[in-house]
Amino acid sequence: MNLPRLQNLGVFRKRVIVRMDFDVPEEDYSRIEVSKETLDYLLQKKAKVILIGHKGRPEGSISLSLSLRKLAPVLTKILKEQVMFIDGMDFTQIKATITQTSNIKIFLLENLRFDPREENNDEGFAKKLADLADVYVNEAFAVSHRVHASIVGIPKQFKSKFKNSVAAGFRFIREVEHLSQVIENPKRPLLILISGIKEDKIEMIESLTKIADKILVGGRLPLLIQKSKIKNQNRVRLDQNNISKIKIAKLTQDGLDIDEKSTQVFEQEIKKARTIVLAGVVGKYEDERHQQGTKRIFKAVANSEAYKVAGGGDTEAALTMYNLTDKFDWISVGGGAMLEFLAKGTLPGIEILID
Ligand code: 3PG
Repeated sequence: MNLPRLQNLGVFRKRVIVRMDFDVPEEDYSRIEVSKETLDYLLQKKAKVILIGHKGRPEGSISLSLSLRKLAPVLTKILKEQVMFIDGMDFTQIKATITQTSNIKIFLLENLRFDPREENNDEGFAKKLADLADVYVNEAFAVSHRVHASIVGIPKQFKSKFKNSVAAGFRFIREVEHLSQVIENPKRPLLILISGIKEDKIEMIESLTKIADKILVGGRLPLLIQKSKIKNQNRVRLDQNNISKIKIAKLTQDGLDIDEKSTQVFEQEIKKARTIVLAGVVGKYEDERHQQGTKRIFKAVANSEAYKVAGGGDTEAALTMYNLTDKFDWISVGGGAMLEFLAKGTLPGIEILID
């Protein structure tokens, strides 16, 4: 995949707008730390860096608990360089602050999803953001399945004006390289475990049957699939030939974990697999009473000899909790983005960067 690389962009003393992944829980900044290499590189090149990103799903209105303001001191600590937070979305004022503040090299803008134009991929909004910088870098693999202004709209603006003005960050490139190993000639059987609470994962099951030999579904997804069937929404449209590839877990009575029988069935499937993708926790792992399934399934995967990748915020948090991260060949920052990349071999945020 011919993604434009940061090393090939002229960034010396340029203003660089970087789409970051700030959708992180309090006190776990690992998703931000993985971007350090890109940001350090830009600082070395004496670039002025403008950081943009989102947190949560505020749906176009301001929600103080989701403000990015609190991340300025965190970033300052990680980068050992003063980061200035600029409040609001008044682009004239933002631009003036960036141009007139000569002693600061890194600026952080407010949660883009406070403005509905971000998720609507509004062209005017993307133009205003693009106008703040000379170059665009995407270091938010985990959000690159979204057709939003900061993922697709801004790079589109740059590409229409300048050659060689967009690139993927260092971590982004590594994500694509590692996950490509799962798609290109994987050791078989290839097993994908899809769980968690995000409903949009359901729609990916069908496309993932194209690459997987077996798909195990847990977490809240079995309930959501059931609900959608009752409402006759039929969100999982499955080719009859593919149904045998999918095993949907039965849940405990309270619906907060997978049941004992399903845990055993999943453990057996894990033993047979030679490539495993782990995407989502199978129960309410943060509560001791409901973490049995997640603990056993994650341990079974960790102990397998297969090529193993995992992805998503909760998955990573649970792996950290059980001390299992070292056992994986790759831990992706993306949950939904990782699955969509595996299903389609690309993402909107990748397509727009490629010429
Ligand atoms: C994630 O946490 O998976 C990404 O930040 C994307 O968030 P979203 O599902 O709210 O778009």
